Amino acid sequence: MLEIRHLVKSFGPLIAVDDVSFTVPQGEVLGFLGPNGAGKSTTMKMITGFLAPTAGTAIICGYDIATQPIPAKRHIGYLPEGAPAYPDMTPDNFLGFIAHIRGFSGEEARRRISRVVEMIRIAEVMHQPIETLSKGYKRRVGVAQALLHDPDVLILDEPTDGLDPNQKYEMRSVIAAMRPNKAIIISTHLLEEVEAVCSRAIIIAHGRILADGTPAELAQRSRHHNAVRLAIVGGADANVRAELAALPGVAGVDTAGNGLIVFSRGGDPVVGAIADLARERGWTVSGLQVERGRLDDVFREITTPHPIAAAA
Ligand SMILES: Nc1ncnc2c1ncn2[C@@H]1O[C@H](COP(=O)(O)OP(=O)(O)O)[C@@H](O)[C@H]1O
Ligand SMILES: [Mg+2]
Repeated sequence: MLEIRHLVKSFGPLIAVDDVSFTVPQGEVLGFLGPNGAGKSTTMKMITGFLAPTAGTAIICGYDIATQPIPAKRHIGYLPEGAPAYPDMTPDNFLGFIAHIRGFSGEEARRRISRVVEMIRIAEVMHQPIETLSKGYKRRVGVAQALLHDPDVLILDEPTDGLDPNQKYEMRSVIAAMRPNKAIIISTHLLEEVEAVCSRAIIIAHGRILADGTPAELAQRSRHHNAVRLAIVGGADANVRAELAALPGVAGVDTAGNGLIVFSRGGDPVVGAIADLARERGWTVSGLQVERGRLDDVFREITTPHPIAAAA
């Protein structure tokens, strides 16, 4: 549904987006992850035709955004960075205006507006000027605007920014519910969001793609992948730690909470060897848990120019 081909954007000497290519099929929610200034918003602006690329293009449902912008834009819903809207309009006026420029009128426009108002839960603020709304409601009005024409491709630039935890949860549920029929890109710097709603994540920094995979695949690169949390009744003395550290496949042992965390070398499972050792030595184990891996480790390591070597 969406194909990004070699997008480049320079602002004077700064290369904000540096040869970014990827495709997003129907049914995928792609998390676009990166630190501030990574080039996420600039990439989204080029995909949606808001900004002309220095090079490259985006194809939306078969239409090239550079050469066929009108049909391409018919298939795109876009929540721009900061969810801009006319501050002195009410959401009711604003969505009416958006319906009009999307080509809907009368009963059809009203039906579409009611549908998104219910989906995004903004009924209670429909007649209040947008400038008087909380950041969370403004964001939701922006999302309602993006969904009005039920687009095949949704580009949401930080859709949950400014929402409280309940609103974040609701927004993620709305995104998840739309997933089967659409191709969706959301930008975020919240790793928990990627794990909650994204089927795939692309990590970018300095305008370049540094990693691309499912959240689980990326988490496998974490030093916490297959690490084991272990709690032993009576605590773990230096001897216990030394025996654990000497096991084949163990990269290191650290204190974690009331117990220990045993890191695996290269992410291979070590839980079996740890359980066997505990049984042999007669340790009374009160907790044993295998870690999946942490996206935040991977993110930090990948996006830091000079990564600190993982403690081992
Ligand atoms: N209109 C512009 N003029 C000059 N530099 C810009 C402009 N827009 C963005 N940039 C720069 O491009 C880089 C990428 O910005 P942006 O795409 O907004 O990053 P992100 O959304 O990942 O935080 C940043 O260094 C930013 O300062
Ligand atoms: Mg941004």
